Amino acid sequence: DWNMETFIDKEIARIRELVGPKGRVIGAISGGVDSSVAAKLMHEAIGDRFHAVMVDNGVLRAREAAQVYEMLSQHLGVNVTIVDASELFLGRLEGVDDPEKKRKIIGNTFINVFEEEAAKLEAEAEREEEEAKKAGRQHETKGKYEYLLQGTLYPDVIESISFKGPSATIKTHHNVGGLLDDMKLKLIEPLRELFKDEVRQLGKVMGIPAHLVGRHPFPGPGLAIRILGPVTRSQVEILQQADTIYIEEIRKAGIYDEISQAFAVLLPVRAVGVQGDKRTYDQVIALRAAQTTDFMTATWYPFSYDFLSKVSNRITNEVQGVNRVVYDVSSKPPSTIEWL
Ligand code: XMP
Repeated sequence: DWNMETFIDKEIARIRELVGPKGRVIGAISGGVDSSVAAKLMHEAIGDRFHAVMVDNGVLRAREAAQVYEMLSQHLGVNVTIVDASELFLGRLEGVDDPEKKRKIIGNTFINVFEEEAAKLEAEAEREEEEAKKAGRQHETKGKYEYLLQGTLYPDVIESISFKGPSATIKTHHNVGGLLDDMKLKLIEPLRELFKDEVRQLGKVMGIPAHLVGRHPFPGPGLAIRILGPVTRSQVEILQQADTIYIEEIRKAGIYDEISQAFAVLLPVRAVGVQGDKRTYDQVIALRAAQTTDFMTATWYPFSYDFLSKVSNRITNEVQGVNRVVYDVSSKPPSTIEWL
């Protein structure tokens, strides 16, 4: 029988024993439920010997990095560094159309950036250690980075053993194998026995805000796989604005928790429209909302006409460069949830 408080206590004790009184832990934070809960747990266990790194890859949702920083650092007290690598990512993505190439570029660039950041932190830790040794205060030091935190859940463990489909690429951005070798880091996975709903309960108990705990999943390659065609800063901004409006209206309507995943997609076509007495030739936003239990099959969410009309009006009025909104009424299969 599974009990939350017992789990927290046992896991904190296990982490402390594993890491020891001096080891440090580094972890990548995506802003999602899993990595946030894992980070909070780690912070409870070893305080500021845990260091979280969030990489801003330039294809996050609007204000995402700032919000994650606020939540983890200010609200939960976790040691966090945000690395703004958006120039690097967007540079490498320039002109790239193919979805699998986008995924690979983002996955590899993520590893490069994270490794570099980890090396900086490690060098800093070594410097501290040296100085403390010289000053004879060695007992006060916090030791080396020995572990890499991963927010792996039970279904991920199972999936990586039994499923060799597209999800092998889904998780590539988490695969920081080089780092494990180069820095001689060992993996620490405090959530590896939990299901998603258990992680959400855990998050609530540990004081993570409800709107974050219940958040829809967001893919590692981010908005790059929701922009059909090449990714540019201005395309990212258009999609961020449309997506913000869409999600805001879903929350206002009180239906966020009935939907498994909702997002806007920016299509690579131009359509004719009219604004005042002028003809426009602008882009099209597609809205997606999926209901699913396992993400292997899904149906589209039956929004009311009123809702769709409100979102469409807001997006076409408020987002420069968009003059048309369509609603995606495709199930999975044969469609996938994402468009790319
Ligand atoms: P599809 O589009 O395959 O999506 O029906 C199923 C679930 O997987 C997510 N997804 C990804 N997650 N990296 C990720 O981390 C990816 O490359 C990726 N592609 C799809 C998708 O958002 C949905 O939740």
